Amino acid sequence: MVGDAVERARRFVQRLRVERSRVDRDVEEPPQRVGKHAVFGSTGVAQRMREHRRKLSGPREAPGTVQLMEFRRINALPPYVLGVMDALKIEARRAGEDIIDLGFGNPDIPSPDVAVKKLAEAVENPRNHRYSSSRGIPKLRLAITDLYRRKFGVDLDPDTQACTTIGAKEGFSHLMWVLLGPGDAALVPSPSYPIHIWGPLFAGAEVRHVRLGPNQNFFENLLEGWTDSWPRPRVIVLSFPHNPTTACVDLEFMTRMVDFAREHEVLLVHDFAYADLGFDGYEPPSLLQVPGATDVAVELYTLTKSFSMAGWRMGFLLGNAEVVAALAKLKSYLDYGTFQPIQIASIVAMNEAPDYPVEVNEVYRGRRDALVDGLARSGWEIEKPKGTMFVWAPVPPPYEELGSLEFAKLLIRDAKVAVSPGVGFGPGGEGFVRFALVENEHRIGQAVRGIRRALTKLG
Ligand SMILES: Cc1ncc(COP(=O)(O)O)c(C=O)c1O
Repeated sequence: MVGDAVERARRFVQRLRVERSRVDRDVEEPPQRVGKHAVFGSTGVAQRMREHRRKLSGPREAPGTVQLMEFRRINALPPYVLGVMDALKIEARRAGEDIIDLGFGNPDIPSPDVAVKKLAEAVENPRNHRYSSSRGIPKLRLAITDLYRRKFGVDLDPDTQACTTIGAKEGFSHLMWVLLGPGDAALVPSPSYPIHIWGPLFAGAEVRHVRLGPNQNFFENLLEGWTDSWPRPRVIVLSFPHNPTTACVDLEFMTRMVDFAREHEVLLVHDFAYADLGFDGYEPPSLLQVPGATDVAVELYTLTKSFSMAGWRMGFLLGNAEVVAALAKLKSYLDYGTFQPIQIASIVAMNEAPDYPVEVNEVYRGRRDALVDGLARSGWEIEKPKGTMFVWAPVPPPYEELGSLEFAKLLIRDAKVAVSPGVGFGPGGEGFVRFALVENEHRIGQAVRGIRRALTKLG
């Protein structure tokens, strides 16, 4: 008996050694490439992984080939349009071209000095190196609710109606997880900032596109979208001033939306990323300014554009207490909060540099004028936007048949200017390109001259 057990153990150890040597060989053998697949040794780990996948999902690869895993959620994603244009830009720069990058809306204006100094000071304190609160430390939530009181005359409870997010983008994405699931639907403007479409889709919900932009009556389109949708959408996504179309709305529009939401029992989610970017006397309204809005609405505010603090990843969800609590609960499972020195410096930005957004706004206004006036002199007429840090430009008629992607490629190649093709923002974006005002006026002047030289068909 004992002898049998010893023999079984010996054989087991022997088998392990053989397996181990196969694993080592698989790991050590450098993979070769066959087509787009990596090819490992035909025994051991790679083999077992192939067999396991075949059992799960049937054969779909040549023997000896390891196909990268089939992933969930991201498979349907088209290449991120900004990524496609980025690749072209990098290629041109490698070839020695000076490309003026008006494609990616990545703010170039420095963050407020007081915030930078406070960050450096706070990081020295070891107490700030620990996990922080995922909802945001109390003084940070107080600072954002104070800002809302000062700027919009809106009273919010920092304990129940405010939660920090890792920028508006993360806040929006995870908010969709708690609001939507398979079988649900959301109404989303189209064209759109991509996560407004993909956030609901990642959550498993359906998206109904509501056309927005020049010559569109968004509210009428929304009513139509609502009537045509079954099941009724649980969420309506709004975002004004709007990226990419630069469409702006007034408080009356927001009031109609709140009335609509109340009547139809639907939640409004307003991404207010361009809260402080309004020109020529236009002041973007907060959805929460509408009396009673917090019954049916939440709003995302971010320091990214207003305080030019993009890399700091500091945003907030504000408004309806139940919805704020739901996101805070999910976030408490997902993250441990933003690095505390960033939270502390963000408090200082809002409290001690409250006029910084006005300065930022003035910089973007100057750039907008330089671009739109310059292009008009070249024969490309574009309406001046009243808000955002973008210009949404119709592809000029002589180039219309190219479509926005080919036209954007032409601008990189011949004008040395990178823009975002409208088609990347959803079906409603075709026929337009988006300029991001993230280079200084001198460079924008240079871009205009390049465009004038390149667009020879303009009158
Ligand atoms: C509408 C909109 N929401 C959110 C963001 C990203 O904001 P944040 O940096 O706060 O994630 C952007 C950035 O371009 C945007 O245009």
